Amino acid sequence: MSLEELVERVAGEIVRARWPVALTGAGVSTESGIPDFRGPQGLWRKYDPNEFTYSSFMEDPARYWRRHMEIFAGLSGVKPNPSHYALARLEELGRLKCLITQNVDGLHQRAGSRNVVEFHGSLSQAKCLRCGSLYPMEEVEARVRAGEIPPKCGCGGILKPNVVFFEEPIPFEALSRAQAEALRCDLMLVAGTSASVYPAAELPYLAKFGRSPLYFPGLEPVVKDRPAVIVEVNLNPTQLTDTIADYSLLGKTGEILPKIVERVEGLLKG
Ligand code: APR
Repeated sequence: MSLEELVERVAGEIVRARWPVALTGAGVSTESGIPDFRGPQGLWRKYDPNEFTYSSFMEDPARYWRRHMEIFAGLSGVKPNPSHYALARLEELGRLKCLITQNVDGLHQRAGSRNVVEFHGSLSQAKCLRCGSLYPMEEVEARVRAGEIPPKCGCGGILKPNVVFFEEPIPFEALSRAQAEALRCDLMLVAGTSASVYPAAELPYLAKFGRSPLYFPGLEPVVKDRPAVIVEVNLNPTQLTDTIADYSLLGKTGEILPKIVERVEGLLKG
């Protein structure tokens, strides 16, 4: 099927869906200039992911914060791209009930998305590991730039970005909301993610089967009353392609998502 035919079919599915949701990953932000993790220019090609585990942070918080300033500082200057605006428009049209993102860059909200689940937290704040106080990241980065490494809370506790490091659990509220949306949805638009990191990667399976692939081999019978339609948009095939994805649109999210939204608008106008 050509990309145009796929866009047409997917737009029809989105218009008909009772509860469409989206799951996004770093791929929707690469066109804003933020590298993804596992692509050819990905962060994990340049840095060791083991430096971004909770235990590595606790071993040497100053080392993490020096690395943070190298990689993430100044994120506030980055702007949403057409991928983010397209998904915000879908929500505005009532054709996206929830957006679950693995990204911590806040670009979905800056593009206008309102019902967003930040599955891995947000780089907009830092949190005290002792008392739990939250600080705006811009303020903390300014203090690090001025030599306060690692930055500390007024209570003396060390500050850590309010994002989920490897080895850390997903915050309960984000996990339960995301799982509930995956179980409730009848369409999941999976955009710009390798769908390889759990537990986020189980969400398309929950959407399709109502159960996680971690607990049963193969693709067993559907537990949900009806399997969700899985639509993926990615530069490359993923583990969802040719398995549980009903539609796989290969290309840039910044080009494909606006095309889908344009067609959805056309169909809604009748
Ligand atoms: N358009 C479409 N797809 C893209 C684009 C683009 N412009 N740019 C990159 N991609 C795709 C890549 O092909 C890849 O499949 O986006 C995906 C990004 O995958 P990852 O780099 O693995 O990022 P993600 O899936 O978000 O990683 C999940 O892993 O390291 C952790 O916490 C981190 O949240 C992250 C999680």
